[in-house]
Amino acid sequence: MVGSRATSGVEVQLDLAGPRVRSGLEHELREAVRQGRLAPGTRVPSSRTLARDLGIGRNTVADAFGQLVAEGWFVARHGAGTWVADRSLADASAESLAGSPRAPGADRAEAALRARFDLRPGLPDLAGFPRAEWLAAARRALAVAPDEALGYGDPRGLAVLREALAGYLVRARRVAASPGRIVVCAGFTQALELLGAVLHDRGATRVAVEAYGHRLHRDILATCGLATVPVPVDERGAVVAALDGIGGGVGGVLLTPAHQFPLGVALDPARRRQVVGWAADSGSLVVEDDYDGEFRYDRQAVGAVQSLAPDQVVYAGTAAKSLAPGLRLAWLVLPAGLVDEVVEARQRRGLFPSALDQLTLAELVVSGGFDRHVRRARLAYRRRRDRLLSDLARHAPQVEVSGIAAGLHALAHLPAAGPTEAEIVARAADHGLALEGLGAFTYHEPARRGPALVIGYGTPPDHAYTATLARLTAVLSP
Ligand SMILES: Cc1ncc(COP(=O)(O)O)c(C=O)c1O
Repeated sequence: MVGSRATSGVEVQLDLAGPRVRSGLEHELREAVRQGRLAPGTRVPSSRTLARDLGIGRNTVADAFGQLVAEGWFVARHGAGTWVADRSLADASAESLAGSPRAPGADRAEAALRARFDLRPGLPDLAGFPRAEWLAAARRALAVAPDEALGYGDPRGLAVLREALAGYLVRARRVAASPGRIVVCAGFTQALELLGAVLHDRGATRVAVEAYGHRLHRDILATCGLATVPVPVDERGAVVAALDGIGGGVGGVLLTPAHQFPLGVALDPARRRQVVGWAADSGSLVVEDDYDGEFRYDRQAVGAVQSLAPDQVVYAGTAAKSLAPGLRLAWLVLPAGLVDEVVEARQRRGLFPSALDQLTLAELVVSGGFDRHVRRARLAYRRRRDRLLSDLARHAPQVEVSGIAAGLHALAHLPAAGPTEAEIVARAADHGLALEGLGAFTYHEPARRGPALVIGYGTPPDHAYTATLARLTAVLSP
């Protein structure tokens, strides 16, 4: 069976020489994945088809597939077929199978791969995306959408989505929302750029930001011509009293009140009132980045600051954590007086999210599929968080964890006397584990706390979570 070619489904050249057909087939398929001939996400032919094409027994092929699934090279979906897995996961699982024979060339291939275990913050579990529900919602939505929905449409976003979001936000996040004040954007990133442009056009030269945060957001504000001024953050959230002495030219303050990114604390109720008072007195805006507000575990969801003062606060939500960042869908609920300026800024840039995705998200929300998905995901993330806490308590009791009441990340405080953040991150990299230290999210040194790690426990797929935590505790154990 030299040079056999599977002719049904995807085309892939497999050389099956030698007497050990099953192990030869496994080896050939692994090599095909490693060398990129079978790309991640490719659906592999059925065992029946491949057996027929190669002239070997179907059970032999099924057994080889089973082994490759167990090693993480392939992913099987019951009754639906088998796909080539993400390569980084494949090598992760292959390595975690103690004593399993490594195929030739594995070391070289692995050297080229990026970290195989990932606990950096920023991503939800992408394998948990509700594919079937999304597809069903897309089908239903497109079947009934009027032709006009496929035109350029309303520059605020499709009315059907803005209506669905208004209902959801009032109900689930206690936002004072109405469809007319919502602008759908291509991610929070675009939303921030539009707000930055509007503030700059209004004459602002600076925006206050939390002293710990996302570097990208500061960079975006800088590209809008706005300098960023850090506000300290303590265990009750941003120290908004610092805004009082901040001086002129400040167009607003960017906050993450529900779950501070990255420290994980919630903004204290008194400070919520204080910051909207500051905004009203100074004629500035509060931008409330509610990036992971759907995921609160320990008590009743913390409502939106926006509900206290809808004319001072811009509420920003995103599908990046609740569904997937690749959708590039986010929404602003704006003070009435800001809607036209944001829409104009958007029109100048010509960046609109896809109408098909907007129709689908609207249908998912209205049908209740979005709420069901969020509830499922919340439970799954809560379990992950609990696993993280119990594994660290058992194997690395010197590490204290905070910021755990919500979201997809927690802060792991390292003992000051032990290895530095950078040493731990480097040690983890040697174990194939990608970690990020708090330093990566620190705006300026005087505010610096630490050492600590920002652990994104939402990032790994379910099947890799146990192995990923094992790496983490190995790296941190005293
Ligand atoms: C603090 C914060 N805000 C917002 C977002 C969402 O950004 P986007 O909607 O552009 O994906 C993220 C995503 O990682 C984030 O970490």
